Amino acid sequence: MQQNLVNAAYLVASVLFILGLKGLTSPRTALRGNLLGATGMLIAVTATLLVRQIVSFELILVGIAIGSVVGVAAALKVPLTTMPELVALFNGFGGGASALVAAAAVLSPAMIGDVARIQMYTAGAASAIIGAATLTGSVIAWAKLQGMLSMQPRGGVLHTINFVCIAGALGLGIYYALDPGALWAFWTLISVAALYGVLFTVPVGGADMPVVIALLNSASGLAAASTGFVLSNNVLIISGSLVGASGFILTEIMCRAMNRSLWDVLSGNLGDAIGSSDDDVYQGRVKSASADEAALVLEAARSVTIVPGYGMAVAQAQHAVRDLSRRLQKNGARIRYGIHPVAGRMPGHMNVLLAEADVPYDELFDMDQINPTFAQTDVVIVLGANDVVNPAARDDANSPIAGMPILDVDKARTVMVVKRSLSPGFAGIPNRLFAADNTLMLFGDGEKVVRDLLAALDE
Ligand code: TAP
Repeated sequence: MQQNLVNAAYLVASVLFILGLKGLTSPRTALRGNLLGATGMLIAVTATLLVRQIVSFELILVGIAIGSVVGVAAALKVPLTTMPELVALFNGFGGGASALVAAAAVLSPAMIGDVARIQMYTAGAASAIIGAATLTGSVIAWAKLQGMLSMQPRGGVLHTINFVCIAGALGLGIYYALDPGALWAFWTLISVAALYGVLFTVPVGGADMPVVIALLNSASGLAAASTGFVLSNNVLIISGSLVGASGFILTEIMCRAMNRSLWDVLSGNLGDAIGSSDDDVYQGRVKSASADEAALVLEAARSVTIVPGYGMAVAQAQHAVRDLSRRLQKNGARIRYGIHPVAGRMPGHMNVLLAEADVPYDELFDMDQINPTFAQTDVVIVLGANDVVNPAARDDANSPIAGMPILDVDKARTVMVVKRSLSPGFAGIPNRLFAADNTLMLFGDGEKVVRDLLAALDE
């Protein structure tokens, strides 16, 4: 009877997880989706605690208290620009926790209920391999994003060692599942998988890090699902599979947005691209304008598209840009925002910032929706974006970012680029857009330039 109630609670929790994920697919419903997912997790945790009194409640409360303090402090302290680092660590902790729970279960099988031996030990080995690799891989990803390790892609001999590690861990996993008494095999497979996590992340270049973080997120879900099989816990299997599948879909989307195959990302292969030098691209061709000059052009514009990028996040210019949009709308202009899927430093980065500034969702357009409109747009304001508007991706087969889909802002009548200098973006390459005939550079901090534009328009 009690088990039936728990299963019913798990079913409700699983439905809430799925509805939560559905809600997260649009900024309009994301908050509700998040709440649904969190409610599902509360139901699942409560149901589990009510039945499985396998540890003392005191210990659990201490764990919850420590976890809450660390989690809330991290979430409040970390700026949005360093969110990928936080996500990387969270993925790692998720993988590590799954591996530890699986290890505790297979080492004390008497504490687990009726689970078939072969299921418990096979899933235990899988969870230990995926969880340990996710933990160490995520720590390396975090260290790379923090600038503690080189962001240069590298390959060569590392790939061979990688292959040996993964083959070794799988072989040991099979051996252990068949002979669970061989504890040496269990500890060795954890060590080899941990080494694999390091060697798998080290070759990945900086520009590809977001893809790897999405992949590690997927892996942390798979580790949790495997632990669900160890414990025969349905909700852990379902929630782990949902994280695994959604993380993998995100990995796919990001690979497509950067025109990279997953294999190229994992092997640190950037191709033979060389790209142009700054002098080739900029010399004598860049035109800068003052806020007053730019305001004159904006005053006459009937359609204006704003393309935000990482610089908007650094400058925290989202509130100023909303004020500018309202000012231009009052003047009769149609305002749109063009959002590139990898603008900024995390998926949805621009959407989050613009939502924080109360920019209406119906002014936000995806790349596919906005690109056909640029040719009929009077002015595009590129605010702290660089790589995602670099025409080299479209026109220069030798560019390191060749083939990456971009926002075709260069097709608009006038392009105003707001940034502090001619420094490159994340990909480290110059941008022909800044030297185009229809481009005006507005040099300065994003927030200040937008406020200066507002002041000039008011005058
Ligand atoms: P980036 O290409 O990185 O360019 C950002 C630009 O912002 C820089 O050129 C910088 O120029 C400018 N900037 C910085 N601080 C500024 C400030 N205070 N005021 C005004 N401008 C400022 O950005 P993007 O176009 O958004 O492209 C994103 C890149 O990051 C892509 O290459 C993408 O692959 C990569 N990436 C994306 C993600 C995700 S998931 N979104 C995660 C990691 C990496 P100045 O220094 O001259 O001002």
